[in-house]
Amino acid sequence: MEISVKTINLETSKSACLVVGVTDKRQLTDSAKLLDTLSNSFISNVLRRGDISGAIGDSLMLHDVVGLRTERVLLVGCGKASELTHQRFSTIVSHASTTLSKANIKSAIISLADLDCKNLSNTMQLRLTTEALQQNNYLFSELSKDKAPSLTKATLHFAGKSAAVMKKAKLAVQIGNAIGKGRNTARDLGDLGGNICTPTYLAKQATNYGKTYSKLKTTILNQKDMEKLGMGSLLSVSKGSRTPPKFIVMQYNGGKKADKPYVLVGKGVTFDSGGISIKPGAAMDEMKYDMCGAAGVMGTMVSINELKLPINVVVIVPSVENMPDGAASKPGDVVTSMSGQTIEVLNTDAEGRLILCDALTYSEKFKPKAVIDVATLTGACVIALGAHPAGLLSNQQKLADQILEAGTQSGDRAWQMPLWDDYQDQLKSNFADMANIGGREAGTITAACFLSRFTKKLNWAHLDIAGVAWFGGAKKGATGRPVPLLTQYLMERCGKQYSV
Ligand code: BES
Ligand code: MN
Ligand code: ZN
Repeated sequence: MEISVKTINLETSKSACLVVGVTDKRQLTDSAKLLDTLSNSFISNVLRRGDISGAIGDSLMLHDVVGLRTERVLLVGCGKASELTHQRFSTIVSHASTTLSKANIKSAIISLADLDCKNLSNTMQLRLTTEALQQNNYLFSELSKDKAPSLTKATLHFAGKSAAVMKKAKLAVQIGNAIGKGRNTARDLGDLGGNICTPTYLAKQATNYGKTYSKLKTTILNQKDMEKLGMGSLLSVSKGSRTPPKFIVMQYNGGKKADKPYVLVGKGVTFDSGGISIKPGAAMDEMKYDMCGAAGVMGTMVSINELKLPINVVVIVPSVENMPDGAASKPGDVVTSMSGQTIEVLNTDAEGRLILCDALTYSEKFKPKAVIDVATLTGACVIALGAHPAGLLSNQQKLADQILEAGTQSGDRAWQMPLWDDYQDQLKSNFADMANIGGREAGTITAACFLSRFTKKLNWAHLDIAGVAWFGGAKKGATGRPVPLLTQYLMERCGKQYSV
């Protein structure tokens, strides 16, 4: 979808639809007021009749408004402007966008960035409008025969008071488009069935991005390479599968050559049956989303390449399929990780940590400024936090604070859990340096404790995205999170130049 920002003359512009906001208690926003004046109070008269309240979710389409050259005006309820959050603002835009598509409108002028919010600047409103439109007009394109949403072009109206503000507005829309593209890339990868989206497929996509973007180089390690590196933990997960494991390394060089990179590691289990510790059948199809950590970091790579951020970033994706088979790992097997530490595999369904630990050890070679791993790691995280924040655990409070802040700024939030030593005892094994599970209690924390044993030399944080990576129910599908959070985190590492 094509989205741009301009200062439009609302009086003379022609379009299929002009979208403006009405806040709670039937107050007109600035652009709605202007339309009201041009139409000789037509809009305020309609409002007085009570057809639209101004609550979020409310909307009213007006046709052939006298005094205007647009075919339609869509009034959109925005609730109490002072109380708007990222989430509510995105809901408003997504309602507007759905209404436009239902009316089969292809191109619209949207003026929803003139709300007086406490927490969202007007340029941030532009960014969120762009992100929400890109998100709402996403269609799983690969295999779906669904009718595409009709809206393909949006011009965002913004009356910036100076050239500097207009420059910021353009940047806001550019960021929104970049995040939208990265996020939809992640959703596409997540939505594909495990028969198509295999480790080999992920590797191919990563290689393609390397060809698309000039500052990006992709390298793929195969099983033999991993054997040479001693990745015994990672390889033990893939033993029961007929599809080969891949280890994907994407290096983005936007900064100076000597700049140490930020490293993002994404769990790429393209299907998690549980292995010999096989999962129950109900909703097992959802385990195709077990590569959403990989999708999230690859999508972030797309976003930052679109933005050409002036930093260095490495994305690492250990990718395998976890299957039961005669050759598969068994409960009780002991494996040796790349770090040299041994692991007793008490449950083959706790496979994510087994592939991540070797990827984290591998990441040391980049001498990274920080390493963030992203994984649909534990069902316990879904129980603890639900679908709203990602779980965050870190061995450095400063890094955790930066990630929490990026979550707040982007609206794609995380919530910190304790990574205290007290929990480490739960990983004791009689037969190896550690077990791969820590019992029923605090499953998200003990999973992170396991990873922490491989990140002692790193400034490291872990995001458990099991709850946020996909929508359940009727809207079943990948969400593309945490692309906004990670992109925000990386933008904030470039100084103030990307704040809008
Ligand atoms: N991929 C799952 C975690 C998961 C579960 C993600 C539900 C999304 C929804 C992971 O590999 C797993 O199976 N974890 C186990 C760990 C347990 C065996 C210690 C879990 O959470 O049950
Ligand atoms: Mn599992
Ligand atoms: Zn898994």
